[in-house]
Amino acid sequence: MAAGVLLFVAANLACLSVRGNLVSGERAFSIDYKNNCFLKDGRPFQYISGSIHYSRIPRYYWKDRLVKMYMSGLNAIQVYVPWNFHEAVQGVQSFTGDRDLEHFLDLANQTGLLVILRPGPYICAEWEMGGLPAWLLQKPKIVLRSADTDYMQAVSNWLAVLLPKMKPWLYINGGNIISVQVENEYGSYYACDYNYMRHLRTLFRFFLGEDIVLFTTDGNTDKEMMCGTLQGLYATVDFGTDTNITEAFDRQRRFEPRGPLVNSEFYTGWLDHWGDQHAMVDAQNISRMLGEMLTMGANVNMYMFEGGTNFGYWNGADHDTRFRSVVTSYDYDAPLSEAGDPTEKLLAIRDVIKEFNDIPFGPMPPATPKFAYGFVTLRKVGNISGLLKTISPLGPVKSQNPLTFEEMKQYYGYMLYQTTLPRNLSEPTPLISPLNGVHDRAYVSVNGVFQGLLERDTVLVINITGQQGDTVDILVENMGRVNFGSKIKDYKGLLSNLILGKDKLTDWMIYPLDIDGAIANGWPHSDSQQSFAAAQKEPLAGPAFYMGTLKPNGLAWDTFLKFTLWMKGQIWINGVNLGRYWPNRGPQQTVYIPGPLLSTTLPNNITVLELEGAPAHLRVLFTDRAQLGVTAEQS
Ligand SMILES: *[C@@H]1O[C@H](CO)[C@@H](O)[C@H](O)[C@H]1NC(C)=O
Ligand SMILES: *[C@@H]1O[C@H](CO)[C@@H](O)[C@H](O)[C@H]1NC(C)=O
Ligand SMILES: *[C@@H]1O[C@H](CO)[C@@H](O)[C@H](O)[C@H]1NC(C)=O
Ligand SMILES: *[C@@H]1O[C@H](CO)[C@@H](O)[C@H](O)[C@H]1NC(C)=O
Ligand SMILES: *[C@@H]1O[C@H](CO)[C@@H](O)[C@H](O)[C@H]1NC(C)=O
Ligand SMILES: *[C@@H]1O[C@H](CO)[C@@H](O)[C@H](O)[C@H]1NC(C)=O
Ligand SMILES: *[C@@H]1O[C@H](CO)[C@@H](O)[C@H](O)[C@H]1NC(C)=O
Repeated sequence: MAAGVLLFVAANLACLSVRGNLVSGERAFSIDYKNNCFLKDGRPFQYISGSIHYSRIPRYYWKDRLVKMYMSGLNAIQVYVPWNFHEAVQGVQSFTGDRDLEHFLDLANQTGLLVILRPGPYICAEWEMGGLPAWLLQKPKIVLRSADTDYMQAVSNWLAVLLPKMKPWLYINGGNIISVQVENEYGSYYACDYNYMRHLRTLFRFFLGEDIVLFTTDGNTDKEMMCGTLQGLYATVDFGTDTNITEAFDRQRRFEPRGPLVNSEFYTGWLDHWGDQHAMVDAQNISRMLGEMLTMGANVNMYMFEGGTNFGYWNGADHDTRFRSVVTSYDYDAPLSEAGDPTEKLLAIRDVIKEFNDIPFGPMPPATPKFAYGFVTLRKVGNISGLLKTISPLGPVKSQNPLTFEEMKQYYGYMLYQTTLPRNLSEPTPLISPLNGVHDRAYVSVNGVFQGLLERDTVLVINITGQQGDTVDILVENMGRVNFGSKIKDYKGLLSNLILGKDKLTDWMIYPLDIDGAIANGWPHSDSQQSFAAAQKEPLAGPAFYMGTLKPNGLAWDTFLKFTLWMKGQIWINGVNLGRYWPNRGPQQTVYIPGPLLSTTLPNNITVLELEGAPAHLRVLFTDRAQLGVTAEQS
């Protein structure tokens, strides 16, 4: 209603006329309930913020992206802390290199950006398991995101490490963090456990003090607001261009009758799953709604402002009607592209912000240079079972029934399950996943001959052939754990027995695979090339490794790698895992390669794990354009 809008504008004007009586120089950030706004150093403050995830951007580009956000007119950024990124092994936390959160905060502070911190412990973010470490699943009875003792114990241990590190970075303590979110969209989780939220509130207050603004963010329905909000945590909402602004903020008002209006996630774009159409959100709609919200005096965070990349195995997945995994690119159709380039959408947003705030003087930093290095022809290194000495240094575990990734304590990537055929298969015989227990894809070979694949929720039976005693190799891929909803307890591997005809397959040798470790140590390029000569004559079907080198040409510019006619796999360059490619499912066709990863003087080492079958040309193409939007198979 127009009247509603007028009321909010009036409230905002009242807010702007407030003058604090703070001792000069004192740093303060608080909520002014009387005047419906935030107060910074005693003065009304409205944030115009953008989300950026340091875990999705190589460290050497952090500053570049932050400067571009600052030059767009933002006065704050919003940042998730992915617990599993920092504590991959229980009890061992890492805060160095690409995980150096304090360095990131420091760069933001130097740039002149305030920070809205979202430390979870659950973050969603389309990130593997919503940021929760998979080792939590070792306790089969654990109830994630609840007051469950095992879960809360792990959460307390983590927050006791993270939050004391953050305390000096609070604005009130001389840093740039103005507010801290507790949990994330908790109201959309089935558990609705107020004791859990109370525990979190106690922990956040204990470690961060009484003066920091703590808040929650929830989707825009009454049910979500009921379960996600808690006394003492300021309730905010999130919504995109498909939502009526007045109605959304009216809902926030029902739970927070006074205080600033906040849209904590205003969606500038959206994520892609493999097999989706590439999501795009119209820039004009974004600008119009941003202008309307800012006119109301609302505080807005744009999610995402810079999306980045799901490098390695960090993509999440959804499971509504079926399991759908998130693509490698997290471009998000955001104002800054995956490679950090300003877009038309960014310029449109900056024009809106100009009407409300002074924006910094000076030009927008340009796009980073891109280079089309051209074709590189790869050669076959070998298949999985032939390379186990190198990629499975720990060797196999024997087990009558298959064990999960979690039971094997290998949480990410790929694992090999090996057994033998119990009898002759004189005709093609169905290999069945009766309980849909393949999480998430199983590539099946018999005596090294590729038979096809089983896929969670999609392909539950294939025919195989072979003779009694033949080796059955089943390479299982973890496609990323579910990050949203009631199915986040997402175990990986073979979760139940497979049936061959009428027989249950048993007596497994299960090989944990440390592919990333081998590649980080220089393999396969460090091996004598002779050792791969035999592989040149092997067939191209089925899971296998391929290698090649990109000759240095003096440039270390960003580039995009295109896998024309390759099927699906994983790509490493110079030891760094850049994520999955799957052109045959789409929509993403190219993988982003950050320039600083490339050497200007040494041969750049390319390693590919192709899972289904390589094309005869064995070529990959380094191009200067991202291609994120093709769904159909193309040549
Ligand atoms: C938003 O909702 C209000 C109240 O329901 C309505 O009056 C208004 O027309 C709606 N605005 C838009 C843009 O649809
Ligand atoms: C943040 O930046 C301001 C202004 O440059 C500086 O005075 C302050 O010391 C910085 N804070 C931290 C924690 O580095
Ligand atoms: C803009 O948003 C409106 C309202 O949600 C929608 O109907 C319209 O299709 C959008 N325009 C474009 C170009 O996406
Ligand atoms: C399985 O097939 C092989 C080759 O045809 C044959 O030698 C063998 O006797 C068969 N085994 C059984 C149990 O039928
Ligand atoms: C797999 O690799 C091993 C060792 O190099 C080789 O003996 C075997 O023939 C290969 N299998 C296939 C189907 O290429
Ligand atoms: C398996 O083979 C049988 C017999 O040839 C055939 O009828 C059936 O359709 C095949 N099933 C699959 C999943 O290919
Ligand atoms: C590529 O691998 C070779 C052989 O191990 C090594 O000498 C070279 O330094 C590697 N290149 C880069 C850029 O690391």
